[in-house]
Amino acid sequence: MPNVDQKTLTDSLHFRHACKLFNDRKIPSEELRFILEAGRLSPSSFGMEPWNFIVVQSDGLKERLRPACWNQAQITTCSDLIVITARVEEVAQKPYYSAMFGRRGLPQEALERYLGVYQNYIDHLESIPLWASSQCYIAAANMMSYAALTGIDSCPIEGFEREKVEEILELDTSKERLVMMVALGYRVNEQTPKYRLDFEKVVSFR
Ligand SMILES: Cc1cc2nc3c(=O)[nH]c(=O)nc-3n(C[C@H](O)[C@H](O)[C@H](O)COP(=O)(O)O)c2cc1C
Repeated sequence: MPNVDQKTLTDSLHFRHACKLFNDRKIPSEELRFILEAGRLSPSSFGMEPWNFIVVQSDGLKERLRPACWNQAQITTCSDLIVITARVEEVAQKPYYSAMFGRRGLPQEALERYLGVYQNYIDHLESIPLWASSQCYIAAANMMSYAALTGIDSCPIEGFEREKVEEILELDTSKERLVMMVALGYRVNEQTPKYRLDFEKVVSFR
């Protein structure tokens, strides 16, 4: 039998859905902070934390973003729009990744070994932006799950014209690239049924 915590968690996974329309209730700032913390505390490859979370709260900015986001109503109706960007430049710069490994207080020899493995890894990556973006999705998932646990709705959003959004947000794309957005708020409508492949279809034990 699952204990209460497991049930709460499972219920929240069912509660979370891609909410299409939010009411005008604002998320209290301390609750928003906890959601952002769930993003910040997420795991990342080599612990590089290659993400930025830009919280759009300004109605004016949301209005400007909406046409560049397939005119989706979530953009302007949400309480907070978290724009997640991948820090594509720093992750390949030695001062940055040396500091990221260095903060672990490793003996010099171990640190050198980590640096060598990491350098070799990123040198052979097909695409640093793609690799950095993958970490951002993990942070997004954690934020949405955490939000659901506390009764806050969300919608992951990738339906946008990247260049337009990057321009509106005045992103320096040599440093950070738009990955996705998470709109947060409180639902207007009942959620739609959840469709998922069967457990046996996607899970195998070996
Ligand atoms: C990376 C990503 C991008 C998405 N982009 C959008 C989007 O732009 N607009 C939207 O309404 N839903 C978007 N979705 C939501 C999915 O359509 C939705 O999660 C899926 O259909 C399953 O439904 P559920 O989340 O309600 O269970 C996106 C989901 C993910 C993971």
